[in-house]
Amino acid sequence: MKALYPFLAVVALALIAYIGVGVAGMNVLFGVVLPYMALALFIGGFVFRVARWASSPVPFRITTTCGQQKSLPWIKSSYFESPHNNLGVIGRMALEVFTFRSLFRNTRMELRDKKLFYGGEQLLWAAGLVFHYSFLIVVLRHFRFFTEPVPFFVPIIQAADGFFQLGVPTIYITTMAILAAPTYLFVRRVLVPQVRYISLPSDYFPLYLILGIALTGALMRHIYRVDVAAVKELAMGLFTFNPVVPQIAPLFYVHIFLVSVLLAYFPFSKLMHFGGIFLSPTRNLANNNRMRRHVNPWNHPVNVHTYQEWQEEFKDKLEAAGMPLDEDVIKPQGVQV
Ligand code: HEM
Repeated sequence: MKALYPFLAVVALALIAYIGVGVAGMNVLFGVVLPYMALALFIGGFVFRVARWASSPVPFRITTTCGQQKSLPWIKSSYFESPHNNLGVIGRMALEVFTFRSLFRNTRMELRDKKLFYGGEQLLWAAGLVFHYSFLIVVLRHFRFFTEPVPFFVPIIQAADGFFQLGVPTIYITTMAILAAPTYLFVRRVLVPQVRYISLPSDYFPLYLILGIALTGALMRHIYRVDVAAVKELAMGLFTFNPVVPQIAPLFYVHIFLVSVLLAYFPFSKLMHFGGIFLSPTRNLANNNRMRRHVNPWNHPVNVHTYQEWQEEFKDKLEAAGMPLDEDVIKPQGVQV
């Protein structure tokens, strides 16, 4: 059920757009009004969530990283695991963002013959990486619809992506990848019992949505051709705030409606990891705890009675009783008080 309901929701969304345009002729609603509303929600929601994260107090450095932090010169520290300066933080962040490094080290555990086994999950990492990069490349290729003249990088990407020159029109590697990788991610969720147990409708919904977008896109390109010139007219109209609504087959409106739903849903979903990664304290803070003292700026001022003050007050009594005074106590070497 957790997997079925979101599936039915995406099918219903696709039907709403198909019938809305094909039968009720609501081209303006699905081609202009909803995309604009979705974009406004995306930008507004994204900024709101990032601003809220950015304003959360983070007074201390979070040291729960797996690397050795920088301390004494003869202890080797781990520069990218536990960076002590901003350059190291940039390196750690870049490795995370571009290669999903921590996902690569993800482990899975399973019972075999009543024994616990640990193993790697490199397939999950590979599928995640393939999915994200193919999504990026597909969106970059779409710039041919959004801008005139077409940006210089589009033909280069198209040539590389269509390298195998399979079919007419050429089947892009990333079109297949953006269909295959989320399919694997879905199948994994359903087939691996531990993952199925923790999966929620909000895990399945974005997968179906992305698959729906990719599937309608692939259908438009390879089976039910749509008027690409008219699509460009519409897209350019949207981007230049001079909307026009030319006649385009309903399948295109299903595609763009699912994209609109994805945009509107994005800021309220787990997809916000796209923005959240940059604000994650375990990734974006240098671990310089042993180089700098971090004082909590929200500490309430407390009136303290220090040991020195106490000793001063009872000095004569301490001396009379033959008790050692602080000056006599040997401080441990190397400790700064
Ligand atoms: C999240 C954003 C989007 C994603 C992930 C996406 C994905 C895809 C995919 C996978 C294809 C199959 C062919 C290919 O790989 O190029 C495709 C085709 C297509 N998409 Fe999108 N799309 C997105 C947004 C849009 C938008 C905003 C428009 C319109 C303004 C659009 C219009 C089209 C058209 C017309 C095709 C058919 C291309 C052709 O016939 O060559 N897409 N899309």
